[in-house]
Amino acid sequence: MGHDLRTPLASAKAAVTSLRSNDIEWSAQDHAELLLTADESLDRLAHLVDNLLDMSRLQAGALSAVRRPIALDEVVPLALDDLGPAGSHVVIDVPDDLPVVLADPGLLERVIANLLGNAIRYSPPDSPPRVTGSSLGDRVELRVIDRGPGIPTAYLERVFAPFQRLGDTDNTTGVGLGLALSRGLTVAMGGTLNPEETPGGGLTMVVSLNAAPQGAAATRGEPGRREREGANQERPTTSGNETT
Ligand SMILES: Nc1ncnc2c1ncn2[C@@H]1O[C@H](COP(=O)(O)OP(=O)(O)OP(=O)(O)O)[C@@H](O)[C@H]1O
Ligand SMILES: [Mg+2]
Repeated sequence: MGHDLRTPLASAKAAVTSLRSNDIEWSAQDHAELLLTADESLDRLAHLVDNLLDMSRLQAGALSAVRRPIALDEVVPLALDDLGPAGSHVVIDVPDDLPVVLADPGLLERVIANLLGNAIRYSPPDSPPRVTGSSLGDRVELRVIDRGPGIPTAYLERVFAPFQRLGDTDNTTGVGLGLALSRGLTVAMGGTLNPEETPGGGLTMVVSLNAAPQGAAATRGEPGRREREGANQERPTTSGNETT
């Protein structure tokens, strides 16, 4: 495991050390490439550390899901943003009249970003992943659908165990925590996360969440607003530097 964190750490460190070296006159192109390497390695490291921290919190029972009514068509774009340019080809088909769900917006965003990160990685270039939403009784289902190689039925449950990666031993892309964490977070929100085969080939991940009680209004327009307001309220004029 230590090795998996050290790979991106080492390449970021090497790139920055090279850039600082006085002995070498880097061309503009080399300079840009070294910066890109450092930037991408640090992004990868940040993703790993985020997942590791959430996983330890989850396992220690220190992670509490604060559920409130939210609209899926507002959370999905936030998760896409987390993925940067890689997310730009994802096709979103989540109706805005879908019933609102009961979920923790921050945690749900992490779940969707993890599932989409996988789907993007395994999708063939000519068929990008799709995200769909549908309502089923008192549940709402979000599907992350890809047309990649899929996962053999015998392994479908195994990939949800922490640090399980199939086949590829190349640890530069991930450590195998994303699905374990995503399922843990989804269950903490009262939902389920299960794999299906995409008709015609590929993997579909189904996040099933409770619909919010009828009449509950989603905090539309500005997801995360309550959190920010809450954060402000925690520091009520402690600075005491208002001029009177
Ligand atoms: N969409 C997918 N298509 C095919 N295989 C997949 C897909 N998603 C996950 N897998 C398989 O399941 C394994 C576990 O996925 P998981 O997201 O937990 O870990 P990871 O993506 O390898 O690393 P991490 O998410 O920690 O960066 C992957 O290594 C891969 O073998
Ligand atoms: Mg992953």
